Amino acid sequence: MHFSARTHISPSLTVAVNSLALEKRAAGERVYNLSAGEPMLDTPAIIGDAAYQAIRTGKTHYGPVAGIPALRDAAAVWMNTTYGTHFSRAETIVTAGGKHGVSLLFDTLLSPGDEALIVAPYWVSYISQVEMAGATPVVIATIEARGWKVLPTDIEMHITPHTKVLILNNGSNPTGVLYTTEELQAILDVAAGHDIRIISDEVYSGLVYDGAEYISCASFAEHTDRVIVVQSVSKHFAMTGWRVGFVFADEEIIRVLTTLQGQTTSGASTISQWAALAGIQVADEIVPTHCAEMQARRDVFCQAFTDAFGVSLMPAMSGLYQFFPIATFGSAETDSAAFCTSVLADANVAMVPGVAFGMDGYVRCSFGETATELRASIAALRAYLVK
Ligand SMILES: Cc1ncc(COP(=O)(O)O)c(C=O)c1O
Repeated sequence: MHFSARTHISPSLTVAVNSLALEKRAAGERVYNLSAGEPMLDTPAIIGDAAYQAIRTGKTHYGPVAGIPALRDAAAVWMNTTYGTHFSRAETIVTAGGKHGVSLLFDTLLSPGDEALIVAPYWVSYISQVEMAGATPVVIATIEARGWKVLPTDIEMHITPHTKVLILNNGSNPTGVLYTTEELQAILDVAAGHDIRIISDEVYSGLVYDGAEYISCASFAEHTDRVIVVQSVSKHFAMTGWRVGFVFADEEIIRVLTTLQGQTTSGASTISQWAALAGIQVADEIVPTHCAEMQARRDVFCQAFTDAFGVSLMPAMSGLYQFFPIATFGSAETDSAAFCTSVLADANVAMVPGVAFGMDGYVRCSFGETATELRASIAALRAYLVK
């Protein structure tokens, strides 16, 4: 069979590891899951109830392609009141998860020959999605010693006449990096100097720890015309399976995204949208509770890790992950895929290899699971790795 050039992309390694772990579990094996890309919490009852209500009242048909108006309004208000942005309904589209939002944006903004700047370690899907859009990903490496932060000078060095966008994942998967107002200002100024758009992936904005404030790239008044925000209910509301996300951008971009969405998915599930609306309406109650729970789980993970391996980890500032060198376990292995494969095969602990994020020699452990599960996973790792 001859497949199109666009199919020559790598499968998502995070999804692959998670699937293998689930397969083992389905076969009756005890699997310790440190690979989950989600908070393992029940979706709040008020959200589930809204979905039932939508089904019972016949809100089960095709909806408007850009999303139900009530949700577009509520999402814009939520962004504006939480992060000081100024989005309207016309500047908001509901997508089938943030992931589809990113993909639609690349399809909308990139053509063959264009370059997209991606900061490494990066979320696994950026590279493949840029390639699927026919454009070229240009990776900007960062280092742990500088807190994995990209500097304006790093960005300058990678800009060419073909550069169209910079994708910045503030509240990072996998590193947990959180940028300050000053750092974002400097990055936005560089982008403005070269007329580059910023796609700001802010899906972890609700999970920021130790009292830190989340700064949205869209809160800088002088740069609103070049900043596009990707958001999602997945991590904020423990709604990963409902597949609802958002893109906030100028009206012209939203119009094109809507056309593309209309010719592909026809929009996010109507039932899920009514459910997401119920969540967003009580975001002030749900998000801080989920955030506090994830911070507690992060702390359990880091403490159990220190107890088991005698090494302290730098606690993640945001998100759901600890990202650190394999050497932290006392192992001499540098091939992260080989390391994670053998740990999953022999100790039944699922972690994601750093190579999936463009940083071999590292592993990503999720602290999205319950405290009991996190402690059991680290005990299983210790039993296998410490001889
Ligand atoms: C950095 C980042 N962006 C976007 C997404 C997409 O999330 P969703 O499609 O569930 O909204 C994820 C999910 O793991 C992520 O980690």
